[in-house]
Amino acid sequence: MNDLPASGDELTSLLQEAAVFDPAAYEVYDDYRFASHRLLRCDIAPDASYFVRQNFRLGKGGLLWDAALLLSRYLYRYPSKASSGERFPPESPRPTCVELGAGVGLPGIVAASIGYVTVLTDIRKLVPLMDANIELQQRVRQAGRATTDNEPFDCTAAELSWGECDQMESALKSLHRRARGGGSDEGGSDIDACSPTSPPSLILCSDLVYQEEDFGLLVDTLDRLCRPSPDASTPATRIILTMRIRFVDKYETFMALLRERFTVDEVSRDVVQGLHPNADLHLFEIRRRCGLRR
Ligand SMILES: C[S@@+](CC[C@H](N)C(=O)[O-])C[C@H]1O[C@@H](n2cnc3c(N)ncnc32)[C@H](O)[C@@H]1O
Repeated sequence: MNDLPASGDELTSLLQEAAVFDPAAYEVYDDYRFASHRLLRCDIAPDASYFVRQNFRLGKGGLLWDAALLLSRYLYRYPSKASSGERFPPESPRPTCVELGAGVGLPGIVAASIGYVTVLTDIRKLVPLMDANIELQQRVRQAGRATTDNEPFDCTAAELSWGECDQMESALKSLHRRARGGGSDEGGSDIDACSPTSPPSLILCSDLVYQEEDFGLLVDTLDRLCRPSPDASTPATRIILTMRIRFVDKYETFMALLRERFTVDEVSRDVVQGLHPNADLHLFEIRRRCGLRR
């Protein structure tokens, strides 16, 4: 997967060949309309383009979905709930982000580029693709082709199948060590010094609501990741979830399950359609309910 050209000029030529993942490019809206392209350019804001590689042989997770473009644009516009224009100062501890079911990983890469210490997660077979897209973003930044070059960029990829507690713990420990300036995962000896239950600042979920048998596992995973730290010193986790509603009954089943443990606010149609024209796409700001038993 790591077959990027060595020279900056060759990289620039490669980037020029990228297909533009433009929601308005096709008259007929079809989830798979960009599936045959290996390299995509995603315009997240007028001054910010990102590049990702995809591989349809890896199934749904090998492709970029419109819900991910919407989530990326929204996050870039509203990086923290408290203040719409704020970027993060490079202080310790830095804010942290987990992307679940990341696939090619665009929203998580955007999060890392605006200052979140980030881990992209998905099932094992997608880890090499996530790694390749992290490397691509690093190369794009080195070549001076990214708009957020001055921000620190700390992004890794890890296996996380929903419901797997060990994988959740491992992702959180890695994040918290890095957020406190503990360096990369390799050779980290102080891993046990980090609280295993400190929640991340942000969780990103795009187009994950489609397999009914996984709904419970996904909600359990969100619940586990968001549990407050024992001393309740960490602010509540912000969850942003985007989805294309394809089957209303599945959507309602998932939402009913989610609302048992989380407060769910749908972001207005005006905001969402200003970021992506497809009327079936929805975006939610979610928080774990206070007072739930741990
Ligand atoms: C439709 S794709 C969306 C990918 C990406 N979030 C996007 O929007 O471009 C669904 C993703 O969920 C992941 N997924 C599905 N079931 C999962 C599970 N049980 N554990 C972890 N990831 C899962 C898939 O591997 C896939 O990457």
